[in-house]
Amino acid sequence: MHLPPQQGVRPCAPYRPQLHYTPARNWMNDPNGLVWHDGEYHLFYQYNPYGNDWGNMSWGHAVSTDLVHWEELGVAIEATDDEHVFSGSAVIDHDGTMVAVYTSYHPASGLQAQSLARSTDRGRTWTRHPGNPVLDIGSKEFRDPKVFWYGQGGYWVMAVVLALEWKVSFYRSDDLLSWTWLSDFGPAGSVDGIWEVPDLFELDGRWVLVVSLNPGGPAGGSGVQYFVGRFDGVTFTSDWPAAWVDHGRDFYAALSWNNTPDGRRRWIGWMSNWADAATHPTDPWRGAQSLPRELLLEDIGGRPCLVQRPVAALQALRSPDSIHVAGLDIPPGVLFRSVPEGALEITAEFAPGTAERFGLVIHEGVRIGYDIVRGEAFVEGTPSGRHAAPLSADGVRSSTDGVRSSADGVRRSGDGLRLTVIVDASCVEVFSDRGQIVFTEQIFAEPGSAQVGLFADSGTALLRSAAIHPLRPKRA
Ligand code: FRU
Repeated sequence: MHLPPQQGVRPCAPYRPQLHYTPARNWMNDPNGLVWHDGEYHLFYQYNPYGNDWGNMSWGHAVSTDLVHWEELGVAIEATDDEHVFSGSAVIDHDGTMVAVYTSYHPASGLQAQSLARSTDRGRTWTRHPGNPVLDIGSKEFRDPKVFWYGQGGYWVMAVVLALEWKVSFYRSDDLLSWTWLSDFGPAGSVDGIWEVPDLFELDGRWVLVVSLNPGGPAGGSGVQYFVGRFDGVTFTSDWPAAWVDHGRDFYAALSWNNTPDGRRRWIGWMSNWADAATHPTDPWRGAQSLPRELLLEDIGGRPCLVQRPVAALQALRSPDSIHVAGLDIPPGVLFRSVPEGALEITAEFAPGTAERFGLVIHEGVRIGYDIVRGEAFVEGTPSGRHAAPLSADGVRSSTDGVRSSADGVRRSGDGLRLTVIVDASCVEVFSDRGQIVFTEQIFAEPGSAQVGLFADSGTALLRSAAIHPLRPKRA
């Protein structure tokens, strides 16, 4: 059964973001099947057509021409009683057909295997391959195939996890139907949780292997790590220790687009955390995707670092009533000013003074800043209207508590701080310095706290310059 498309639903509910993709209703988790084709960026995603809890996993579908405005198209590949459609990717076959490669999860047996579906109408309708599954090793923890065209070798490559063994397996195929095992990578990096949703791509002359991890993430619950190294068509070799993609709590299952028209690497992640996703207080939808981000690899602090920035297309949404400030001394304490309601992009550059910590305040009580003494960038605090709730014993907060994420060892003490912050209802994304330290957080503040602040703790700091841009989507 297909539900009708959900276009034209306005973001009127509290917490509903304007720029971050959310389905009009029901549960969403991982992005799936990201591919550009024939002028459209496709975003498929794990979707429950029947409610806003996880279950009946199917692929939902949305398209965009600019990565900023999305049109929801309804259910693309729907679960059956025998087969739930778990995460995977999409490619364009040599004849122009869109092919989804996904994990079939069979509820009765618990088995997971890799399957195909084809679409000849730009992802709108799908036919399952009659010979499914195409790759079955009899495992209950074998999932999330990322397939891409490996041009240097002239064949398709699949990266897929053996979740409980902390391995990414690589396979190759000439026709997407028959797959030959190439090699395994792992265990490596963090193995504090199971491995899920791998991605492998070439970036700025190196190869990057991305693995989601649940739990064991840097801020508690789920998180994403990456390895930088070499891929020779058979084996991935990591040349650097694993690093975190994001230091916040709410960026998971990150996946990059195949076939971008300009060849640049862009991705998104599910803006949530398995530790508390089910409790996010939104209705009738639950789950958001991050903003699409551009990826670069830059040498910073003696190693290649993944650098992420919101896609440039977002800047076209800046409204003319931006607020600009330059050369402002921040006295000890907090300075607040009112800002327009709705989504905001805040850019700010600070120079240290005598303060130990300095930065921005959003949602009245959430501080985004830099701690000179600890050499840490951080996002911390409790939004307006909330009472600080103690973290539970395992360090996991519930979705309505405050936030406490930090990243150390990646900045030099005594530096200034450059921030780009996007605030869009409950969705907060923080890109610091060149974009090498990122925090993605869901913060459920009381609506109506339209203020932004500057703070300096036990001393002063200097705001070199700042701009606050209201971001206004051009259409619903
Ligand atoms: C990651 C994940 C995947 C799985 C999907 C099920 O968040 O657990 O491993 O395919 O979600 O919805």
